[in-house]
Amino acid sequence: MKRINQLFFLLYFLSILGCQSNETASEPPEEMDTYYQEPHRPQFHFSPDSMWMNDPNGMVFYDGEYHLHYQFYPDSTVWGPMHWGHAVSKDMVHWEHLPISLYPDPLGYIFSGSAVVDWNNTSGLGENEEPPLIAIFTHHDTTGLRQGRVDYQSQSIAYSNDKGRTWTKYEGNPVVPNPGSRDFRDPKVIWDDDSDQWVMVFAEGDHVKFYGSPDMINWTFLSDFGEEWGSHGGVWECPDLFPMQVQGSDEKKWVLLLSINPGGPNGGSATQYFVGDFDGKTFTLDPDFAADLTNEPTDTVENAIWLDYGRDNYAGVTWSDIPEEDGRRLFLGWMSNWNYANRVPTHPYWRSAMTVPRTLELHTTSQGYRLMTQPVAELKQLRAASHPITARPVTEDVNLSEQLGVEGSLLEVELELSVANSGTTVFGIQMANDKGEHYTIFYNSETREFYSDRTEAGKKDFSDIFAEQPHVAPRASEAENIKLHLFFDVASAELFADDGATVMTEIFFPTEDFTKLSLIVEEGAVDIKSGTVYELKGIW
Ligand code: FRU
Repeated sequence: MKRINQLFFLLYFLSILGCQSNETASEPPEEMDTYYQEPHRPQFHFSPDSMWMNDPNGMVFYDGEYHLHYQFYPDSTVWGPMHWGHAVSKDMVHWEHLPISLYPDPLGYIFSGSAVVDWNNTSGLGENEEPPLIAIFTHHDTTGLRQGRVDYQSQSIAYSNDKGRTWTKYEGNPVVPNPGSRDFRDPKVIWDDDSDQWVMVFAEGDHVKFYGSPDMINWTFLSDFGEEWGSHGGVWECPDLFPMQVQGSDEKKWVLLLSINPGGPNGGSATQYFVGDFDGKTFTLDPDFAADLTNEPTDTVENAIWLDYGRDNYAGVTWSDIPEEDGRRLFLGWMSNWNYANRVPTHPYWRSAMTVPRTLELHTTSQGYRLMTQPVAELKQLRAASHPITARPVTEDVNLSEQLGVEGSLLEVELELSVANSGTTVFGIQMANDKGEHYTIFYNSETREFYSDRTEAGKKDFSDIFAEQPHVAPRASEAENIKLHLFFDVASAELFADDGATVMTEIFFPTEDFTKLSLIVEEGAVDIKSGTVYELKGIW
């Protein structure tokens, strides 16, 4: 009996020990506490867990997963030999990091490109009755470049038969060799039902090229577009071509997104777009859209229609293979600018984040065909608390954080207001900290312009041109009520004004997080019609 008791105690003691050690084990390891907690680390935007990132690449939806690849240099926080980093998400909001998909090889670095589902296995690269995923990217041959050659960029493909977990480069690469031309890159591929072929668009210097293929292996030149259209303040990069149904009609138009660096409306990198028709061979501008642009090549910015007037939305493209029953055109951009991307003060941890995912819609407006950009509805799941703003006229600054009891620096603001009856009105939405640093989005009713002002928003010495003046966007809408929809993360602001008619994306680096949200009335009066401030949750 005594021995049984002893055994019982021994077992009991061991079980306590076991419990204790289990408890210790279930506590987050030390590094988890600091994961994604470095200064300036975005909390609900995608950023790589470490090192350098630029353009989004290989964005494809397959089997319930949104794939996001990205230009990645795993050995440094500055740009270098490019790989394709990889992450997947079920909702475009929460991301799981996966191993690198594509490494540099003897043909070169892996530059930007796209990915599609080859539903009918036209490439013959599929296995086991499953459609392969095909990645189409640029090989950038630095050896050739160093030797003074001009044909150092060409288009290649890789395929995956395990839902994007591993990728094999096609042995016959490149599939579009370089004919002797510098700046020959960034292929985006789409299946065009009407012409029954794969269509590839990529940038060549100051224009884009279209190629067609039955199988993504054999490509034929179709046409060029753009030499005499749009902004030419810099090199053309990262095009995207897709059909869109014009909202509220059965009409189909084709949209061509085109990134340009430098030459953006506020300096450096930015994205313009064109609306027209594509007949399986040629992209033709819509006559009214063409009338909005002059056909004189010039390096001014007036003859371009911009997707986003902020400085920090570049190289954005849309997801391939979004199911028809969803029907959205889903976009994501790189939230930085080549003017300073390599120097932003997030060293030594990581550099750059993506914008929030967005929907693009084509509308007929008083100005003609225009894209409207909105944050995706999936972001609503981040709302942790909501604070309604009382409708009322306001003539002085309002500390919204204090008045509404708003906490934190991750905020979403929706506000509808009118400035119609108050003469010239200048108002703004501001985020500030106790150190006197602040970031403000202003609107001036006289100039009818929005201003993004990061001139006093914290660190700016890393670049002479990061914060030298506020950045400007003309208000596109003519509606009397102004609608503002804003997202503030730790180091960024995204403005979707008037249901996405005017968009601005900007980054900043306060030395202490911004936690004070205010409505600033500099001149005149603002009549608040309705509004809500949401505190948001992080995703990491
Ligand atoms: C755009 C870009 C692309 C190129 C990639 C290289 O930001 O310059 O044209 O493929 O970045 O990283």
